[in-house]
Amino acid sequence: MSPQERLIVALDLPTRADADALADALDVDVKWFKIGLELYSSEGPGLVRDYTAAGRRVFVDLKLHDIPATVERATKRLAGLGASLLTIHAAGGRAMMEAAVAGASAGAAGQGGERLRILAVTVLTSLEQSDLAGVGIQAPISELVVKRAKLAAEAGCDGVVASPHEAAALRAALPEDFLIVTPGVRPAGAALGDQKRVMTPAMARRAGADMIVVGRPIRDAQSPNAAAKRILEDLEL
Ligand code: C5P
Repeated sequence: MSPQERLIVALDLPTRADADALADALDVDVKWFKIGLELYSSEGPGLVRDYTAAGRRVFVDLKLHDIPATVERATKRLAGLGASLLTIHAAGGRAMMEAAVAGASAGAAGQGGERLRILAVTVLTSLEQSDLAGVGIQAPISELVVKRAKLAAEAGCDGVVASPHEAAALRAALPEDFLIVTPGVRPAGAALGDQKRVMTPAMARRAGADMIVVGRPIRDAQSPNAAAKRILEDLEL
């Protein structure tokens, strides 16, 4: 994969005008854009349809978690919009993950394009061990992450979203072609501030990440284009 195929820019913005301004400011060849809950909630399926029609590859980060039948029906609709990646929660269980994969396959059938790929979220990185204990889960987070990732692979999912710090353990435990997508990445040389659990793009790549998601370091940069260019260069290493 080329560096351009590995970088996903998160459009964590409130409106289509803001998203367009950022996407259009990137003259370096960025192929992938992530539309998350905020932008999807304001602009909806039309934005996904328009971006994919314009040749952009869209990662719809909606982290679905519901009964299997509902997830299958929603996934089929999202596949019909032309999206390329979608997140679901592995905590929804095997049947729910299988339903998402079935919906993705059914949705792509009429389009001739490649199938929407399903990424499982194992354990939100915002949760600590004590948060899990609070909802009745005693298993160590690192074990839970690997257990859920393996279940996602068995259920036919295409990959997982994981912290770069989990990437090496996951790479060792999962099939070679299973995608590992990591947020929590900061450009080489950037101030890490109080963020300790981050890696540079090159470090994430070496740890086994196939693709990285970058939001604020590009969105909030004085020159988003220069920031994206530096990240692409780091991914060459
Ligand atoms: O931190 P940054 O702004 O680069 O985050 C980019 C994207 O990655 C955001 O859209 C956020 O939802 C997601 N993210 C995540 N898990 C984290 C950190 C960020 O899913 N631990």
